[in-house]
Amino acid sequence: MDIYKEDACRGKVVFVAGGSSGINLGIAQRFAGLGATIGLISRKQDRVSAAVASIKEAGGQAMGIAADVRSYDAVEAAIRQVRDAYGEIDVIISGAAGNFLAPVVGMSANAFKTVIDIDLLGSFNVLRASYAHIRKPGACVISITAGQAIRPTMFQAHAGAAKAGINNLTQTLAMEWGPAGVRVNAIAPGPISDTEGMARLAPTAEATKALKSKIALRDYGTKRDIADLAVFLSSDNAKYITGAIIDCDGGSVIGDASADALTIPAR
Ligand code: NAP
Ligand code: COA
Repeated sequence: MDIYKEDACRGKVVFVAGGSSGINLGIAQRFAGLGATIGLISRKQDRVSAAVASIKEAGGQAMGIAADVRSYDAVEAAIRQVRDAYGEIDVIISGAAGNFLAPVVGMSANAFKTVIDIDLLGSFNVLRASYAHIRKPGACVISITAGQAIRPTMFQAHAGAAKAGINNLTQTLAMEWGPAGVRVNAIAPGPISDTEGMARLAPTAEATKALKSKIALRDYGTKRDIADLAVFLSSDNAKYITGAIIDCDGGSVIGDASADALTIPAR
């Protein structure tokens, strides 16, 4: 089956946490373009409304609710509202996150806690609250993690610890929910162009150039790269994949590829 053909996702309900911008909005827009119905949340009503409008303007169907993933009750109410409006949820995308560059001694306990609360506790809240409202069997849950989870990165202690927790939560839930026919996976994007994340982590042209020089494929990825992987993971073509943390990162996480090995004469 062509999983990217027009209408391939018609009839599916997709809930996106942190769906008002960036990679997560790109995922929501891609699913909507393939016919899925979208429910999305983030903290700020104006951003939620703009995201929903962008989907509707492109011919899609969507609703949005302002909710902070740090509040279990707010998340639960939002997921329930989407289920009541559209029916059982087929795909959960858990991607809300906050990040900034700071050394450990440059962040307060509250700064560390803030990122843990948004990324890790927020993921728990989204996944835990979703269970009652997802299709069983058949649902697909995808968390958005990051390479910092397995490759410790300076100035990223908070985000790395949070994403490592998300990886563990993903694989634990894959075991707990597998018998109910629910698949639980995570996508680890590498640096993705035109995102808030990269604006914060590589804010200058120099930093961008230096980072690209270390990536095996020598470039940033696109939101579409991540969205297409999410569509694949939610499809029947991926029906035997669960508990997987899938890198989509041009080879970023495997190591520093800046040395030019191809200039070394072959022996
Ligand atoms: P982004 O545009 O800032 O996306 C973050 C989203 O989360 C926004 O919609 C934001 O909207 C929402 N959000 C933040 N705090 C929230 C909270 N407490 N409750 C509910 N929603 C909240 O950033 P992005 O760069 O596209 O990142 C998206 C995801 O990809 C994140 O999980 C990030 O860790 C991951 N990632 C990104 C990259 C990259 O290259 N950009 C690389 C690896 C992983 P509001 O402000 O309205 O709440
Ligand atoms: N360096 C060190 N500490 C920082 C910081 C930085 N660059 N930015 C924020 N903090 C600290 C604050 O000082 C505060 O700690 P304090 O109370 O001890 O002073 C703590 O973090 C919480 O900040 P606050 O602004 O109150 O949190 P918030 O909940 O309003 O916002 C953030 C959360 C900080 C993560 C904010 O950057 C955000 O909303 N991010 C969402 C978008 C994003 O990060 N996208 C990229 C995703 S990869």
